[in-house]
Amino acid sequence: MIPQGKEISDNDFKKLSNFIYTNYGIKMPDGKKGMLQARLQNRLKANNLESFKEYCDLVFSEKGRDTEIVHMIDVVSTNKTDFFREPAHFDFMTNEVLPEFMSRRNPGELKIWSSACSSGEEVYTIGMVISEFENHPGEIKYSTLGTDISTRILDKAANGVYAEERVAGIPMSLKKKYFLRSKNRENPTVKVIGDLRKNTSFQRLNLMDPEYFSVPRDHDIVFCRNVLIYFDRQTQEKVINKLCSHLKPDGYFFLGHSESITGMNVPLKQIKPTIFKKII
Ligand SMILES: C[S@@+](CC[C@H](N)C(=O)[O-])C[C@H]1O[C@@H](n2cnc3c(N)ncnc32)[C@H](O)[C@@H]1O
Repeated sequence: MIPQGKEISDNDFKKLSNFIYTNYGIKMPDGKKGMLQARLQNRLKANNLESFKEYCDLVFSEKGRDTEIVHMIDVVSTNKTDFFREPAHFDFMTNEVLPEFMSRRNPGELKIWSSACSSGEEVYTIGMVISEFENHPGEIKYSTLGTDISTRILDKAANGVYAEERVAGIPMSLKKKYFLRSKNRENPTVKVIGDLRKNTSFQRLNLMDPEYFSVPRDHDIVFCRNVLIYFDRQTQEKVINKLCSHLKPDGYFFLGHSESITGMNVPLKQIKPTIFKKII
């Protein structure tokens, strides 16, 4: 069904989809035309524009490069995520990664990078898992960096406020410990406690950038889950190699459930499905 509102021509769709794909890796095949048209309606409105032709002129103008592109990427990115999504990864952290880290003579600080963190659920799940680590409660010093291409979603992540239904699947004991409930009963929300938020930082980063200058190269763990599916195979391999250069030797790398490194030339060896260790 063609969504209501202004229509995008094939030509303008091609211009925008090529631009998004080339610069952000997000595939926009012809089948996504309706989706792009629907999602950008509000951007036309916000800019008082009458047509997609005018919108393209804005996006490819000097002014657009600085401002509108950020908004455009905000609306085209798919941010689906959840607390404790793909729980096997967090069990593996508790059973393997954290004991191994704490068995080091001088463990220092555990550094984790969630490289497509969306609205922060992955980052705060990591915080809960570390805080709950039974054998050494409260002893692990850690920091988690969350990055994403979407500024809108990063603001949400940094705020740490979620609709109460988003935490429905989290065990009550953890909910009580790590979230504060709002008093507003009409629109019930929860806020991640300061103790978890203080160990996290968020910044905008495009995984398509040639180098990730703003990110330190000494991470113990990199999460890159459910983002590579949007990229073609060649781009996936490049991104994984760049991410690995920010991982310590023997550091762990987590992929999403439908992603793989089969046939790629990357410095990782598989430990379990979607869990890898950096070699070299
Ligand atoms: C489906 S979410 C996955 C969130 C989380 N990692 C998880 O598995 O639940 C994918 C995220 O990747 C981000 N993304 C898409 N393209 C990106 C790019 N080129 N650079 C950085 N982040 C990107 C999107 O904004 C979105 O928040």
